[in-house]
Amino acid sequence: MKKTLLVTGGAGFIGSHVVRLFVNKYPEYNIVNLDALTYAGNLENLKDLDQAPNYVFEKGDIRDSVLVDELFVRHNFDGVIHLAAESHVDRSISDPMAFITTNIIGTVNLLNSAKNHWKDSFSGKRFFHISTDEVYGSLGKEGFFYETSPYDPKSPYSGSKASSDHLVRAYGHTYGLPVIITNCSNNYGPNQFPEKLLPLAINNIKNLKAIPVYGKGENIRDWLYVEDHARAIDLVYHKGRDFETYNIGGHNEWTNISLIRKLCEVMDRKLDRKAGTSAKLITFVKDRAGHDMRYAIDASKIEAELAWVPSLQFEEGLEKTVDWYLANEDWMNRIISGDYEKYYEQQYEKR
Ligand code: NAD
Ligand code: TYD
Repeated sequence: MKKTLLVTGGAGFIGSHVVRLFVNKYPEYNIVNLDALTYAGNLENLKDLDQAPNYVFEKGDIRDSVLVDELFVRHNFDGVIHLAAESHVDRSISDPMAFITTNIIGTVNLLNSAKNHWKDSFSGKRFFHISTDEVYGSLGKEGFFYETSPYDPKSPYSGSKASSDHLVRAYGHTYGLPVIITNCSNNYGPNQFPEKLLPLAINNIKNLKAIPVYGKGENIRDWLYVEDHARAIDLVYHKGRDFETYNIGGHNEWTNISLIRKLCEVMDRKLDRKAGTSAKLITFVKDRAGHDMRYAIDASKIEAELAWVPSLQFEEGLEKTVDWYLANEDWMNRIISGDYEKYYEQQYEKR
């Protein structure tokens, strides 16, 4: 019998790379992608899979418990890879409720359906929850986030992801549901919605628009190429241990300002502009409220247990990323009309 996996949020940035990897690598699986197609969901991200015989798209909201249950009955899922979420910190600051309902209640709906539908036997089943390093809070200059680091979320986004992580573990502990969680650092790469730092900056540089850098640009993030995250998800889904947590990160820390300067150099070269042209667009703007200072992952557990390591050096990943956005102007242009313009004005006009 073919296995059927539910991937939630598969039309988003990371989800689309996960769906593509699983559909292409595992013809013996049926992959069902459940996505509400919010502003962040885009079926164009998966248009190469339209004809794939082992892929089904279901438009729907994980907040709708009746729908989620109905999908479990109809498709008889063997496993869940849960990525659907509201994912942007700035939006969580201006409108927290969507984060509470999707990230917390949506996750609990999936947990309930999995628990009830799989109640006769959890054998061979797996509920895999994709989370973020932001649940651990913010680091100073030294140290790393470990799987054992205490939770200390500081934004409505990370608070909602932390809540969902706790509930996933609670279902594992109380009901024996075979759960597994990964907490990953900042991803970058093709198909990322241009509200996040790198695609936003790439698009602005291309259009000779100001690049907004929050505060002094000294905050540090640990960047990982999205396909390396998707590979880690594949490994953890197939070889990870039930009830465990795995941290995933790139060993690749950059202050925002040095990252943007590096990007400016790459963009000048790719666009045949005089060196220094893009850097002139850098504009320091009002800081994000409660802006976490530094994230850095210790990924030694997944490296030791599952032999995962990032495949790309950052310079190579950045080149690939810039090339993709420059080659896919239509993708970007379709996104940055309408609602995106409204969001951009609200987010940046006062800064
Ligand atoms: P994204 O915002 O690009 O995509 C989220 C997807 O979820 C979209 O397709 C959206 O339509 C869908 N979605 C949102 N609400 C939904 C709902 N109520 N019902 C069904 N679908 C819904 O996000 P992303 O950056 O791809 O992140 C995916 C997951 O990975 C999230 O859980 C996020 O917390 C986690 N994560 C992201 C990063 C990162 O750097 N982007 C890092 C670590 C972990
Ligand atoms: P972001 O891509 O929103 O990811 P996260 O907040 O989840 O880490 O932001 C990455 C970093 O870049 C973060 O420190 C905030 C900063 N930033 C800016 O300086 N300017 C911007 O316009 C954006 C969107 C982010």
